[in-house]
Amino acid sequence: MCGIVGYTGNKQASPILLDGLSRLEHRGYDSAGIAVLKPDDSIDIFKAEGKLHTLKKKVDGNEPIGQIGVGHTRWATHGTPTDKNAHPHTDCSGNVAVVHNGIVENYLELRASLENEGHKFLSHTDSECIPHLIEKYLVEGYALTEAVGKTAQLLRGANAVSVISHQQADDIVAFRLGNAGGIVLGYGEQEMFLSSDLPALLPYTRKIAYLSDGEMVSITPAGANYYLTDGTSVSKAPSIAPPDTVTAAKGDYSHFMLKEIHEQPEAVISAMRGRISFDTNTVDGADFGLTDVQIAKINRVVLLGMGTSLHAAMVGRLWIESFARIPAESDNSSEFRYRDPVIDQNTLVISITQSGETADTLSAMELAAEKGAYQVAITNYDGTQATRIADSTLLMKAGIEIGVAATKTFTCSLITLFLFAMHLGQKRGTLEREKAATLLKEVALLPELLGKTVVDTTQYEKLAEQFFQYSDFLYLGRGVNFPLAMEGALKLKEISYIHAEGYPGGEMKHGPISLIDENMPIVALMPVGPRYEKMLSTASEVKARGGTIIAVATENDNSIATVADHTIQLPSTAHELNPILSAIPMQLLAYYIAIRRGCDIDQPRNLAKSVTVE
Ligand code: AGP
Repeated sequence: MCGIVGYTGNKQASPILLDGLSRLEHRGYDSAGIAVLKPDDSIDIFKAEGKLHTLKKKVDGNEPIGQIGVGHTRWATHGTPTDKNAHPHTDCSGNVAVVHNGIVENYLELRASLENEGHKFLSHTDSECIPHLIEKYLVEGYALTEAVGKTAQLLRGANAVSVISHQQADDIVAFRLGNAGGIVLGYGEQEMFLSSDLPALLPYTRKIAYLSDGEMVSITPAGANYYLTDGTSVSKAPSIAPPDTVTAAKGDYSHFMLKEIHEQPEAVISAMRGRISFDTNTVDGADFGLTDVQIAKINRVVLLGMGTSLHAAMVGRLWIESFARIPAESDNSSEFRYRDPVIDQNTLVISITQSGETADTLSAMELAAEKGAYQVAITNYDGTQATRIADSTLLMKAGIEIGVAATKTFTCSLITLFLFAMHLGQKRGTLEREKAATLLKEVALLPELLGKTVVDTTQYEKLAEQFFQYSDFLYLGRGVNFPLAMEGALKLKEISYIHAEGYPGGEMKHGPISLIDENMPIVALMPVGPRYEKMLSTASEVKARGGTIIAVATENDNSIATVADHTIQLPSTAHELNPILSAIPMQLLAYYIAIRRGCDIDQPRNLAKSVTVE
């Protein structure tokens, strides 16, 4: 969840490190720091508790001189967010500086033994044992690369680490163990870059390579050498990151989240591109990976994810059952990984993860791989760990998403899942041609409908004005709209800090109804569709108990006024596609309520964009 950057080259390192950190701040913002190796071989370190701007202020006017350095933005695991616990951490001599993402599970043991040997620790972090271990091996006469490799072999848990030292003054040595977030290397002209995430590199280069689990790299301005932690050489050629049409700049928008909400019509077009043949009314499965024989053999589908990606999985499950008539289930990756799931070679496991680096989802995928399942990853970043575990990858093609709250990656996951489910149905002969043609006609209209849905934000501003002081919300939906109720509640919770719950409408009478009073607004997802009447009854029951209803309904629905106090209208579409449109009101309502509460929209407290620890 922390962000790591590194630079070695012919330019001053500190501005590049700070710029890189500003593009990674969504990964953690408890503290930040940089270390720069100076021409006299000493290391200058700046650290600051809190957000990056505090560090920038500290550095301003005192810029360290040096062309190699590492930087870190922290999401605290061990040790409170203080200057002392901020990275980079150093050894006793101050000659080794380390930035770390992950958890050193055996740090207590390592720390005790290092302290016994006389090493002095300054922080309460697990990370600090890393520079001391490196120091120990340097003192024993090992070169920096060897010392880092030996250290890596002692660490338990998932860890990504990056190191500088005057022992190899041009080199940054880095390694990745398990799934503690990625390390991406960027190739420039007489300069090399390193980052946890691709977006931080894109302003500098698109020539990139990723570290895999168990790999190390040593970068100098001239290029990169790859090894395993035992020193065995690994050959790895850089590739070119695909051009991204959507830039990671806020433009005129006040927040990345708002910009990303508005980018959804375009992002969904991008996710659809090349995957539909409108001439034949079929989904073109060219990039879906599975052969017809493999598709015929599937007897069960398991969809995995966390948070918003789990909600996409829940919707995808319903589409797969409906179009492909295969038994399907969705599960939270962190639960799945610790049960003993029944999976075999005929199980298709679909994992959804925008970052491609969520620790729980990666572990769940590893478990599914051990059991021989065919695996598909749906992710926004090619080359990430999820793509390496999976047998095939479906890219969301959402463009870079900076806001911690997932928005366009959610709708792009949904459209990708929708088309994949249709593809499975077409190949298995369970989705009739006419039905497919009707659905694809509606799919073609989706970008325009999404455009209509995002355009009018004044209604959300008004609703926010009225509801921002409430402390609890209930979201209700049925069928494909139930996961959207969960998603609406999650969006509200994570950015406005208001307590919210998402329930299936049918569950209301079994408990939540006792919560209903004038202090509990209900967001009822009730677009026209198969369970519309049932939702109407649920809404009437809420109304009869004094609840206030904000209905998300299909335009021109004349019955809705009988139950709704406020109505957000959605354009009419095939009922199966409603969740893709309903995502927008879930996002905009949360956004404007959070604005009225003065919350930090793009970097909500305690969260991070990639959750790379368990
Ligand atoms: C979404 O708004 C959240 N920030 C979070 O729930 C997120 O969806 C979850 O952590 C999964 O992330 P992933 O898609 O990168 O795996």
